[in-house]
Amino acid sequence: MEIRPITARETFPVRHPVLRKGRPMEECRFSGDDLGTTFHLGAFDQDQLVGVATFLMNKDIHIPEIAELKIHQCYQLRGMAVLEQYQGKNIGKRLLKKALEELKDKQIKVLWFNARAGAVSFYEAQGYQITGEIFEVPGIGPHLKMFKKL
Ligand SMILES: CC(C)(COP(=O)(O)OP(=O)(O)OC[C@H]1O[C@@H](n2cnc3c(N)ncnc32)[C@H](O)[C@@H]1OP(=O)(O)O)[C@@H](O)C(=O)NCCC(=O)NCCS
Repeated sequence: MEIRPITARETFPVRHPVLRKGRPMEECRFSGDDLGTTFHLGAFDQDQLVGVATFLMNKDIHIPEIAELKIHQCYQLRGMAVLEQYQGKNIGKRLLKKALEELKDKQIKVLWFNARAGAVSFYEAQGYQITGEIFEVPGIGPHLKMFKKL
């Protein structure tokens, strides 16, 4: 298993079946995907891309625990996905670990995200904490804000 940088477009074959199943491919595009400050990581089994995650410079003003930070010190995780048949094989864990190394190199102070309720325990096991109340993302389902200070 190798983890290496990929482009936004390369994430779509994993984002689509895992996060936007049955929806138009266009919904796999995220705002900020192609910004210079954004990076995408892919996990490869041989030559097959099996897991993806996207990291964008962004601050959430609704997280009181990071109120003192500047936007350039904050990154958001989006589009974290592992192909169904590869889930539970530590690929998600390794994607996050690799990202944290890169973020620390960039002097980033916090990684935050809106976690699907079903994935909260996965992130908690990796040391991320919940902040605020559960909320609904229309068409996708219940979410919780989570973060980790680096
Ligand atoms: C959530 C997801 C990214 C995790 O990736 P993964 O490669 O399956 O997870 P890992 O194998 O690295 O799991 C690491 C640990 O978390 C546990 N875990 C994984 N997914 C879990 C979940 N949804 N709930 C609770 N625990 C979970 C694993 O059992 C493992 O535990 P262990 O270290 O005790 O063995 C992946 O399952 C996925 O793509 N799910 C569907 C899409 C999704 O929900 N994405 C997140 C959007 S916020």
